[in-house]
Amino acid sequence: MRGIILAGGTGSRLWPLTRGVSKQLLPIYNKPLIHYPLGTLMLAGIREFLIITTERDQEAFQRLLGTGEDLGIEIDYAIQPKPEGLAQAFIIGADFIQDENVALILGDNIFHGTGLGHQLQSLSNVEGAHIFGYKVRDPHSYGVVEIGADGKILSLEEKPENPKSNMAIPGLYFYDSSVVDVARSIRPSARGELEITEVNRKYLNIGKLGISILERGTAWLDTGTFESLYAAASYVRVVEERQGNMISCLEEIAWRQGWIDGVKLESLINNMGRNEYSNYLSQFLGTLFE
Ligand code: TTP
Repeated sequence: MRGIILAGGTGSRLWPLTRGVSKQLLPIYNKPLIHYPLGTLMLAGIREFLIITTERDQEAFQRLLGTGEDLGIEIDYAIQPKPEGLAQAFIIGADFIQDENVALILGDNIFHGTGLGHQLQSLSNVEGAHIFGYKVRDPHSYGVVEIGADGKILSLEEKPENPKSNMAIPGLYFYDSSVVDVARSIRPSARGELEITEVNRKYLNIGKLGISILERGTAWLDTGTFESLYAAASYVRVVEERQGNMISCLEEIAWRQGWIDGVKLESLINNMGRNEYSNYLSQFLGTLFE
């Protein structure tokens, strides 16, 4: 399975923060935002990535993450010239997807919870499409899914004024390779975007849209507004401070997955200099800096 991280967009709700820097590079406590969705897909076992950004910001993402070699993964980059919708990711990424299954994650979505990696790993053989539902207090700014008593999906709506349920659809979606043709077949919505909800509706109509509910113990945070950006940073800080474990420390994930060995980890640590981040990682070597 391959992974696409969609990290373009204008971030207009976060101006002036995003005038000079992409939203997905802003700090969430001690890491750039994009580390969190990348870490989520790495925990799902994915090692081949396409990161889609604006032209303006591509170089900064490449500076941050490079080829992925240091993490035992492969990262390609592509440009989305204009934010013309989430589903455009599959058209831009067609050559990258080829005939593989693909997970799409939004570059500004943070997931955290026990067992999430395993839950996602089980979707690597998805047939058709698979989405998630997450109960929120106010779902009207998201895609919303209505689920019947038998667990079947009854309806999908994009940013409805009067949502039919309080199940929002988080920015994490799994597809088989047919998604490229499905994305090519849809037309832009009234707001000029290729809507992921439209793609998912196509799968729903042919009975190939699966859904899992993310348990209440799982955190799903998005970071599109000042409030949510700040809340996400507070969440990461509180959990890390309390547990002493980092959320989405990419080098740790790569090492735990067995994609880099202790020797590689040590050389990465040595190149980081001495700071809280490298100190955290060095505990896994069983040694601290002299
Ligand atoms: P949004 O938060 O809907 O859009 P945005 O990031 O441009 O922010 P704003 O609404 O404040 O202008 O996007 C959700 C995520 O998807 C975010 O990570 C950006 C990304 N995105 C793209 O990369 N391309 C797109 O065409 C769209 C619509 C979003």
